[in-house]
Amino acid sequence: MLKDIVKKSRSYRIFDESYKLEKQDLVDLIELARFSPCGKNGQYLRFIPICEEEVLKEIYPYLAWAAYLKDWGGPVEGDRPTGIILVVSKEGSLTDPILACDMGIASQSIMLGAVEKDLGGCMIRALNRKKIAEVLNLSDDYIIHIALAIGKPAQDVIVEDIHEGENIKYWMDEDKTHHVPKIILHDLILD
Ligand SMILES: Cc1cc2nc3c(=O)[nH]c(=O)nc-3n(C[C@H](O)[C@H](O)[C@H](O)COP(=O)(O)O)c2cc1C
Repeated sequence: MLKDIVKKSRSYRIFDESYKLEKQDLVDLIELARFSPCGKNGQYLRFIPICEEEVLKEIYPYLAWAAYLKDWGGPVEGDRPTGIILVVSKEGSLTDPILACDMGIASQSIMLGAVEKDLGGCMIRALNRKKIAEVLNLSDDYIIHIALAIGKPAQDVIVEDIHEGENIKYWMDEDKTHHVPKIILHDLILD
């Protein structure tokens, strides 16, 4: 059921790094973006699949994980994602609302597809675009919108019910279980 996939599609930030992804795994996920809607059917987004260990190692330092977890610096060696899909575009800007919508929709299709394959990941918009572009030798013409970090999750994520106005900050407990507060359905609906 779609609801089960959406519920399982949490942001995972700790992975089993021994589980390697092939480029084709990422390409299969990118195909889901191809079939996703986009404003004016503009199809401005392009996707860079990365699963080569040496390239991933160069990119990890430029991803910022979990801003609310002040005492946690992101996944350590052994816990890192084994694939990254960079969502880029040649036209528009980072603040162009159409591109922001397109990027979100395409990213969600990819992440849901990852869950269907028993994978998982995290969308990362807080990244050092300049450094990542340097690592990849990416032309200045391209803007990096977001990185989709993907791998075999090695962390439980629990959704906690909260009410409108309560603390929305996620937290991680001693077992590395991640807790993510979500406002209950009743409080989301205005009627
Ligand atoms: C557009 C977007 C940007 C995000 N950027 C980051 C990020 O830079 N670093 C990070 O650790 N998580 C990032 N996240 C993940 C969110 O923190 C996460 O979705 C939120 O905490 C809710 O958790 P959930 O995905 O399990 O529902 C991003 C999510 C979205 C949709």
